[in-house]
Amino acid sequence: MELCSITGLNGKITVPGDKSVSHRCVMFGSIANGMTEIHNFLKGADCLATIRCFRTLGIEIDENGSSVLVHGKGLHGLSAPTDILDVGNSGTTTRLLSGILSGQPFESKLSGDKSLNSRPMERIIKPLTQMGANISSILRNGCAPLYICPGSLHGIHYDSPVASAQVKSCILLAGLYAEGETSVTEPSLSRNHTELMLKEFGADIRSAHEPGSTKATASISPCKELYGQKITVPGDVSSAAYFIAAGLIVPDSEILIENVGINPTRSGILKVCEDMGGDITLLNERVEGGEKIADILVRTSELHGVTIRGDIIPTLIDEIPVIAVMAAVAEGTTVIKDAAELKVKETDRIETICDNLTAMGCNVTPTSDGMIITGGKLKGAAIHTLLDHRIAMAFSIAALVAEGNTKILDSKCIDVSYPTFYDTFEELL
Ligand code: S3P
Repeated sequence: MELCSITGLNGKITVPGDKSVSHRCVMFGSIANGMTEIHNFLKGADCLATIRCFRTLGIEIDENGSSVLVHGKGLHGLSAPTDILDVGNSGTTTRLLSGILSGQPFESKLSGDKSLNSRPMERIIKPLTQMGANISSILRNGCAPLYICPGSLHGIHYDSPVASAQVKSCILLAGLYAEGETSVTEPSLSRNHTELMLKEFGADIRSAHEPGSTKATASISPCKELYGQKITVPGDVSSAAYFIAAGLIVPDSEILIENVGINPTRSGILKVCEDMGGDITLLNERVEGGEKIADILVRTSELHGVTIRGDIIPTLIDEIPVIAVMAAVAEGTTVIKDAAELKVKETDRIETICDNLTAMGCNVTPTSDGMIITGGKLKGAAIHTLLDHRIAMAFSIAALVAEGNTKILDSKCIDVSYPTFYDTFEELL
């Protein structure tokens, strides 16, 4: 995709359904009793991988546009897969599904693409093994492909070294099949869609915060059944983030993004934009299916640098590529710290962000847990996405304010989370 600078992005848009919520609706619907009806499901490659895996596990799933009907078979209704489970590029599919599979009376194997098969799985193998699961890295390198055999699970308390919703959710889902209570404490609260949604499905699940500390604990006890639900997936704030950034940095812009999920464990980007001096207004705030939703109005603003660190990081981890782009054109310096998790995303995002910003003429220094960016003017460049969807989208926004042309290499990888990304753009021209 080739892009150049523009002015005046104006209009009203919606963004596709939330990726994290879409994955979970299919997973929980599959192990619930009865039908789960999902509207505004994200038909990105990652969530389609989840559908594919559950079909391979014997679940009937009907697709009709952005609506999906899952014919749940109950907690013990999955059947042995006839094939290796192909998780594609999706870390969420791999880690959450591994939790469910650890509690099944059959063997399974999971494998994904090159990027997925190089991401750390030891972070789930360790707690699942403590629970009595039989899960191993087939190549013994701590990564997928994974091999899971039947095991007899018992509840544990796990003190997670990372604030990771995928790790937390994996353990909680295994906890559905374990004897006794399972709990996970994380250093600060990561996205809590699993806790909110499992509760709606009827699970015995609780959340607690340690007073005077950022630590958060989620606990689950086995239940007899989960019950199918009707769910409308809110717009994905991680997808909205590209248009929030575009609205703030492209001159003469005013964009209204409707129906965006603003769950506080996901909406750190909004606070950062405000701290940077961004003109952002939340309209029509409401709660649907336990999730907070709003319409977001953004207008072109003069941004300035900020420091982003500590327990806000898990609430904006996927938005750091586009935050870095805003920082690159903001007045002054932005420091991002406590974000070492960026190194184990679809790419090492500290490296991919810094390399591509440098190619665009930005003054940026990578650090061990983030980066330091001094704002200025950007120039067009060839962007090496390394097939990372968020890098492709973030640098598409950078291209809109860069002098000269920018080429986003392998931009097709955007299909992982936002197949209609460039179409949404067209609506604002
Ligand atoms: C996700 C959790 C986050 C996030 C990912 C989706 C989820 O990963 O980066 O895009 O749906 O649970 P970690 O749990 O590894 O932080």
